[in-house]
This record gives sequence, structure tokens and C-alpha cells, in this order.
Amino acid sequence: MQNIIIAIDGYSSTGKSTIAKQLAKTLGYVYVDTGAMYRAVTLYAMQNNYISQENFNTSDFVMQLDNINLSFKFNVSLGFAEIYLNGNNVEKEIRTMEVSSFVSTVSTIPEVRQQLVKLQREIGKNSGVVMDGRDIGTVVFPEAELKLFITASPEIRAERRYKELISRGDNVVYDEVLKNVNERDYIDSHRKNSPLKKAEDAIEIDNSNLSLDEQFAKIVYLVKMILKDHE
Ligand code: DC
Repeated sequence: MQNIIIAIDGYSSTGKSTIAKQLAKTLGYVYVDTGAMYRAVTLYAMQNNYISQENFNTSDFVMQLDNINLSFKFNVSLGFAEIYLNGNNVEKEIRTMEVSSFVSTVSTIPEVRQQLVKLQREIGKNSGVVMDGRDIGTVVFPEAELKLFITASPEIRAERRYKELISRGDNVVYDEVLKNVNERDYIDSHRKNSPLKKAEDAIEIDNSNLSLDEQFAKIVYLVKMILKDHE
């Protein structure tokens, strides 16, 4: 079977990573969560006091970028690769509301994007890969054989994210989660460098009213069509 690149882009909390993980598992492909990479870089900026509610010391932070080492290690029991920041597993720390509140700002920095896009291309170049993010089909792998663009209403996305955070034991308020979803949508799609937008040849899927199974069946059908074309 031919290995292809599957790019999954879309707004925050549309369930891109759930789809991508399931698809990678089904196809035996590598899954890369690029949002986790931007989140880990943001966590580094927070831990080292480059960013706070009051201030973001961008120029000093950019000079530190070479000290950030990101890697993925496959966790057999979870069935996907977890992200490590300078040798530490940060899967849990990068999913907090505090990281979410800074990550879109950090993601606007051109030097951060350059470094992460380079790493993403390295990881994806030799194998079948499912990569999710904001600019995968437009910038990272414009030649990807299948591009999906996932959407859902902000309210539905905020509700899903709220439930996820509550089930992890985080103390959050729905209105704040909705506000964060709307703010990130705005920053992600209005930034100068690689804004979130649907690639011309991407297939849009609005999953507001689709169950996970319905959505997955639709995507597997698309993958089969593409693989057939590449036989
Ligand atoms: O997918 P996520 O919500 O975990 O992503 C977190 C943030 O990272 C998102 O708000 C914007 C940024 N991001 C990006 O700019 N480009 C990507 N390819 C992936 C994420």
C-alpha cells in the first residue's frame, strides 16, 4: 500500500486530533499533533518567564529558540506519540487553559513557525503521516494527497472543550472556554504569517451535527478513494 500524507487543518477544538489519531492507527501511519508543538514552545516561554499576562519579551525569547528541544515518543498503552520538551513529557501541562490563553500569540512569531515547520517536514518526509494543525495543507505539506478542513460552531467546540477540561479535573467556566475559542479563532485566522485558512483543494467537513463514527466513516471513504488513485 502506498504511503500518503494526510493534512487535517481547522479551528480549535474541532476534534482534529481525535480524527487524526484514529486514522493513523487504522492506517498504521505516524500521527503528528503540531498544535502540541506550539503548545510546548509556549510552555517553555511561560516556565522561563518570557511571557505573562502583562508582558511578552519576544526578542529575548526568539534568541532562546535553539534551547528548545521537542521530540515525540510512542506510548504503547495510549496508542499515540506523546510530546517531550527538553526530555520531559509535557502532554498534560500543555493542555491547560493558561497555555491555551498564550499559545496563539506565541504562534504568530515567524521564527517559531519557521523552526516548527522545518521539524514537521522532517518528521513527515519518509512515511505515511497524518498531521493536524492550522497550516498543514497550505504551508507544511501543500503537496499532501488528502487535505481535510474541519469546522464546527464555536459554541459546540467550546462545550466539547469544557467537558474535556472538567473531566480532567480542571476548574473552568464555560464562558471563559468559549471566549478562548473565539479569541484563538480570530488570532489564528488573522495572523500575517501562515494564517489558518482552507487550502483550495481541501475537503471541508462541518462536524457540528456528526457523530464520531459518522465522521470517521466519511473520512475513511475519502482515504480509500485517494489510495485507490495511487495504486
Ligand atoms: O490544535 P491546538 O488547539 O492544540 O493548537 C494550539 C494553537 O497552536 C492554535 O491556537 C494555533 C497554534 N497552531 C498553529 O499556529 N499552527 C499549527 N500548525 C498548529 C497549531
